[in-house]
Amino acid sequence: MGKKLLLEHINVEGIQSLEVYRKMGGYASVEKAIKTMTPDEVVEEVKKSGLRGRGGAGFPTGMKWSFIAKPQGVPRYLVCNADESEPGTFKDRYLMEKIPHSLIEGMITSSYALGANTSYIYIRGEYFYVSRILERAIAEAYAAGWLGKNILGSGYDLDLYVHVGAGAYICGEETALLESLEGKRGNPRIKPPFPAVKGLYGSPTVVNNVETIATVSHIVNMGGEEYAKIGIGRSTGTKLISAGGNINKPGVYEIELGVPVEEFIFSDEYCGGIPNGRKLKACVPGGSSVPILPAHLLLKTAKNESRLMSYESLSDGGFESGSMLGSGGFIVYDDRACIVRSTYNFSHFYRHESCGQCSPCREGTSWMEKILKEIEYGRGTMDDIDLLWDIQGNIEGKTICPLGDAAAWPVAAAIRHFRHEFEYHVKYPEKVKDIKHTPPPMPV
Ligand SMILES: Cc1cc2nc3c(=O)[nH]c(=O)nc-3n(C[C@H](O)[C@H](O)[C@H](O)COP(=O)(O)O)c2cc1C
Repeated sequence: MGKKLLLEHINVEGIQSLEVYRKMGGYASVEKAIKTMTPDEVVEEVKKSGLRGRGGAGFPTGMKWSFIAKPQGVPRYLVCNADESEPGTFKDRYLMEKIPHSLIEGMITSSYALGANTSYIYIRGEYFYVSRILERAIAEAYAAGWLGKNILGSGYDLDLYVHVGAGAYICGEETALLESLEGKRGNPRIKPPFPAVKGLYGSPTVVNNVETIATVSHIVNMGGEEYAKIGIGRSTGTKLISAGGNINKPGVYEIELGVPVEEFIFSDEYCGGIPNGRKLKACVPGGSSVPILPAHLLLKTAKNESRLMSYESLSDGGFESGSMLGSGGFIVYDDRACIVRSTYNFSHFYRHESCGQCSPCREGTSWMEKILKEIEYGRGTMDDIDLLWDIQGNIEGKTICPLGDAAAWPVAAAIRHFRHEFEYHVKYPEKVKDIKHTPPPMPV
């Protein structure tokens, strides 16, 4: 059994309540940080831990925290990104719903480290019921003196608010999130300036993912060096993986980074294999925006090494033969799955979610969806496949925010690794005009 930190007490009866959470050792990190450490010492432990942001980009958290500007007399903010809208990713919801105090504890410890006296949890509109769970937990924390004025008699004050968004994927991009939190339309900002210098209401701000913030409590409790011993290489610690698709046991799993992908898919501790003994065709390992990998590149790298669940191993080979750990949305496809249909489905999502600010993304996502629809229903041509390749290449890297890349990468990877499926749709229109069509047999 791999080590569990975030989900260790997930099955304890009543863990949603402050009373039970405290009995399980909850809020120890707040006591330790506020009573025995300076804010800079907390930042130092997070740096030593090697923790990388769990929202998708994997940027080192301690380093991000150390960038925060500290002009005199200007407030600083911590904003938790609970927008979680990437298709395939649902681990933040699970954590907030099951153990809401773990996020609140992490928010207090992290806000103390950053010198923030007002912090926000920005949660997607569709998680309204989760926001109610968080609100209840926050009220309990205020009543017990963990939030509010003079926490633990230290002179440190913190107010924590939950802000419910209106349900837009783009508001997960950190600067669009800040715009939305300020009451404006959620359009990404041009960077620089980065939020650490000019963020919420023009003040220095750190935006971190739910899982990142909840992990900080464990780092403070065990010390950064101990935390860094878990995992592999520069992929330290544990990671929540949302596992879905054609597997026997979909759900949220906490893994020690470095578990072999094969073990994650086939062992009973995690996904439990593929139903009805079907064959593994492919997997999107890090949420809909990361490149899909065919089975042979998923289980082994191009160098014939075992592929591991880590930032480095999953991206080994670049986009030619690798992918990304991303937000840990792990979608498995068996041999019945149609890759063209899945790519069309993702494109539909990105076209809908593009904010429209940048022309390559606004126009390109729309054209990719239209062309994919034609190919999927047997009305496409061979030239359309090349046109699709051309369009995705004209979006990548040409937009203010990475939503453009997120829309382009799945299309590029699908054509790169599964071009034969696109060609099959063009060559045999009568076989694919039914929505329930089966794809071509897998190459051997
Ligand atoms: C279109 C788009 C959507 C995003 N959605 C989320 C999200 O739902 N949750 C999240 O934590 N990060 C999301 N991100 C990444 C954030 O911009 C940011 O990098 C992250 O919140 C930083 O937190 P971390 O360092 O703890 O990972 C998104 C980025 C983009 C471009």
